[in-house]
Amino acid sequence: MYICICKGVTDTAIHEAVYNGADRMRDLKSCLGVTEQCGICATNVQEVLEQALMQRSLASNFFSKPTRLNEKLA
Ligand code: FES
Repeated sequence: MYICICKGVTDTAIHEAVYNGADRMRDLKSCLGVTEQCGICATNVQEVLEQALMQRSLASNFFSKPTRLNEKLA
C-alpha cells in the first residue's frame, strides 16, 4: 500500500528500510524521501515506522534468545 504518494513509497519499502537499519523519521526521509513534498504522509509514515520497529525488535529477540528446543539441541 502506498504511504507517501508524492514519492511513491510503500509500506513494504519502509519495512525494508527499517530492516536495513533505519529507525527514525529522518532516516526514512533521507533514504526514501518521505514527507519531503506535501508532508501529508507524516502520520502514516510514523505509524508504519513504529510497526516495523516493533517487528524488527520481536524478530531479533526471537532469534537471539535460546529456546528450550535450542537448549536441548546444544
Ligand atoms: S504524500 Fe508524502 S510528501 Fe506528499
